[in-house]
Amino acid sequence: MSEGGDLLIRGGNLVSLDGVQAQDVLILGGKVQRVATRIEALPGVEVIQAAGKLVFPGLIDPQVHFREPGGEEREDLATGSLAAVGGGVTSFMEMPNTSPATTNPERLVDKLRRAAGRSLADHAFFLGASPENAEQLGDWEQIPGCAGVKVFMGSSTGDLLVPDDASLERVLRSGSRRVAVHAEDEPRLIARYAAIEPGTGVSAHPQVRDVECALLATTRLINLAERCGRPVHVLHLSTAEEVALLRERDLGDLVTAEVTPNHLFLEAPDCYERYGSIAQMNPPVRDRRHRDALRQGLLDGIITCIGSDHAPHTRAAKERPYPESPSGIPGVQTILPLLLMGVRDGWLQMQDILRICVTGPARVYGLEGKGPLVPGMDGDLVVVDPEEKSELPLSWLHSRAGFSPYAGWPLAGWPEMTVLRGYPVYGGHAPLGPPRGRMLRFS
Ligand code: DOR
Repeated sequence: MSEGGDLLIRGGNLVSLDGVQAQDVLILGGKVQRVATRIEALPGVEVIQAAGKLVFPGLIDPQVHFREPGGEEREDLATGSLAAVGGGVTSFMEMPNTSPATTNPERLVDKLRRAAGRSLADHAFFLGASPENAEQLGDWEQIPGCAGVKVFMGSSTGDLLVPDDASLERVLRSGSRRVAVHAEDEPRLIARYAAIEPGTGVSAHPQVRDVECALLATTRLINLAERCGRPVHVLHLSTAEEVALLRERDLGDLVTAEVTPNHLFLEAPDCYERYGSIAQMNPPVRDRRHRDALRQGLLDGIITCIGSDHAPHTRAAKERPYPESPSGIPGVQTILPLLLMGVRDGWLQMQDILRICVTGPARVYGLEGKGPLVPGMDGDLVVVDPEEKSELPLSWLHSRAGFSPYAGWPLAGWPEMTVLRGYPVYGGHAPLGPPRGRMLRFS
């Protein structure tokens, strides 16, 4: 089987860590062969004209929930991965809170089998930690196609939970790869949910799962990570206080952190007033003070990467009264257009997008072959027109969820073409060719 396709991307404005420069990119056999101001066409190699367009390496989304198996009415690996490439995301790492949860090698291999021939993007799957499987995780995390271990310190969608320090320490002492953690404090969550008054609406979500829930758990986590010397990754940071904590503790690569576009582009109370439970996720979107601190943390490098936390639910479920309405916002397809809005608004630069959506996740998880478009890397890229704004029609979004807080937003940066290892896999708001996603490799 060929390793990949051949393609010459001509005249696009290539986003690299040094900035944006007009460059041609030649991909042969799925790998970047050359990057130069002018590369002559080769016989039999298709030329894509990209003058005036931006060319980014394919984005890596290290946190998605694609619901297969057990929740296919909300999403499956085919629809989720189509939404991914529809947003220029060519690699994704999927979370274990499916039904059944991915808590053993058989279930991990089952997901890999389901993805083969159906996923449009390269992929890996997390193992879910529990007090029961803690000691085995160290062996299991070495299975090819495993993204690593994911811990829920606080309850969210599904039943995965490692609520106490003793169990968490057992998880952290089993294995060596970076552990991804949803850090909200379970005992405090239990107390806060028990205190909800009848008639409380979704606007109270940031007070129910309050700053203290997140800060307590993140503090417990980084103390344990330091004690065990085990690298951890704090998922979807949501508070100014956690950013300050990470800055102050300065633990370098031992503790890395991620933020979702929702926490960067939505703010309370407005988002709950406008979108109701569509804007409800865990940990919650909070007010502007937190949003601004998260933006600053991202620019300072305290936060290393963006993960969409793409988490589809049915509309019917979202319409249940709070707190029965489920938490989660689909978002794998809207990362790039939102970040390009950040560039237009002047607080982000093009090369920040590369750092937080490509090199950051690749470094945090030790991905092989994924990174900036330089010779030897996989030929994954996305060509976008940064100027062509549209009020996002829901029909462009491929998630089975069928809702998004960003519907109707004037966004630009929809892929004219998404390329996976030299093969065009998406263009004209539709998939191109057969699904070509492969298992991601880790160093
Ligand atoms: O809002 C969320 N939804 N946060 C999570 O941690 C899980 C996710 C889901 O799977 O629905």
